[in-house]
Amino acid sequence: MADGTSPLEQASLYLDGVYASVMDEVTAGDLTVIGEIPHDLNGMFVQNGANPRFHPKAGHSWFDGDGMVHGVQLDDGKPVFRSRWIKTTGLAEDIAAGHATYVGSLARPGAGKRHKNVANTDLVYHAGRLLALWWEGGAPHELSLPNLETKGTFTYGDTLKGGLTSHAKIDPRTGELFFISWGPRPPFLQVGVAGPDGQVTRQTTIDLPGPRVQHDMAISDRFICVFDFPLMMDFKRPGQDSLGFVLNDDAPTRIGLVDRHDPTAPVRWFEAGGCFMWHLSSAWDEGDEFVLVGARLAGATRVDKRGRVHDDLPLVDGEHRFDSHPHMWRLNLATGAVTERRLDDAYVEFPRVNDANICSGARYSYMARIKTDEKTLMADGLFKYDLTSGARQDLAFGAGRVGYEASFAPRDGGSGEDDGYVVGFVTDRADMTSEFWITPSRAFADGPVARIKLPQKAPPKFHGRWLPAATLKG
Ligand SMILES: [Fe+2]
Repeated sequence: MADGTSPLEQASLYLDGVYASVMDEVTAGDLTVIGEIPHDLNGMFVQNGANPRFHPKAGHSWFDGDGMVHGVQLDDGKPVFRSRWIKTTGLAEDIAAGHATYVGSLARPGAGKRHKNVANTDLVYHAGRLLALWWEGGAPHELSLPNLETKGTFTYGDTLKGGLTSHAKIDPRTGELFFISWGPRPPFLQVGVAGPDGQVTRQTTIDLPGPRVQHDMAISDRFICVFDFPLMMDFKRPGQDSLGFVLNDDAPTRIGLVDRHDPTAPVRWFEAGGCFMWHLSSAWDEGDEFVLVGARLAGATRVDKRGRVHDDLPLVDGEHRFDSHPHMWRLNLATGAVTERRLDDAYVEFPRVNDANICSGARYSYMARIKTDEKTLMADGLFKYDLTSGARQDLAFGAGRVGYEASFAPRDGGSGEDDGYVVGFVTDRADMTSEFWITPSRAFADGPVARIKLPQKAPPKFHGRWLPAATLKG
């Protein structure tokens, strides 16, 4: 970085301040509320994130911290807050030892025991279970509802081979879960499908020319969308001390469409401008076109292929640069043509939609507005995009406040894609207190109707979702 901070030193920024871990598991009602909690919002918001239990060993990445889930349950206007560690085998080993026993994912090979499944990245409700997912893959961890206690790993009755990553998607109409698994050794990428009965029904290898960084995927009614991004892994790079990510600036992005309904159909690949994406908004089929929206990064690394340094924007792990803008691709299945365009010049991350529309056409996308004057990745507000009209509404968290991903929570008895609330955590860096904000989507720019003061800070989170009351049956 410009001030000489090394990548590993930059990673430590994610241990201090707003990122500092909270140690206690808390259950609390009787919370202070500014405004009024809507009575037509009943259920629970849960969000996963990194919360290192012990001071990390060498090579710590923000993504390596032990998983902790924060949840806010709402029942007829009354809130209950819970925070719980995700009790993984690796965390148990650390607690038994009294210190961190794994090295971080930025450590050099051979530095020590590594690849701890911290289950810290995402949460999905599938087959009647709340599952905590890890971005590198591994077995999901099942959490109880509403108490969020770790019940153990869930491997779909041992039908899951090789684990699954964060950002699995559920088709709300079929109840199927679609997922990817990936790694630095063949097979570099697989797609999988699990049924609502808790059995994996398909795992298909996707032929890639080499190891590629993967994070998110998309589904439409017809396709599973996967990527061959030019963000590659090279563990032999001279001076290698990071995750080994190298952006091949000259190479295109290939977007692959896997037929959902015919496992024998070949993958259809479309070539687009070179980029990377950590996070997608949604996808859908539209006539002959497959439409995809996501947060596109043109320059996803601090150092480009020619050795030029780009330290003008937030970094994660000292290497991963966030210059992401909302972007739309249209892949024409009849002609093979690809058209793409930037939707806004604003810097965004963590795009989300109403999950009921995840594969059938989402008009509204909610994205976090990235603070471009920070060294680390954080947001100072949210945007609501109308992808049909191009209109954008802004919600600012206010001076000194930061947040991350928000989720859409449908209103009880509501109708229409945006008939509900945008919910998420916001932290005031002045006193390190956190709130849970509830903002009506249809009056987004007016701000929250309720701000619930939490008894414990919510360290910056990765991903979560709203669980309707009917799912909270224990
Ligand atoms: Fe993610």
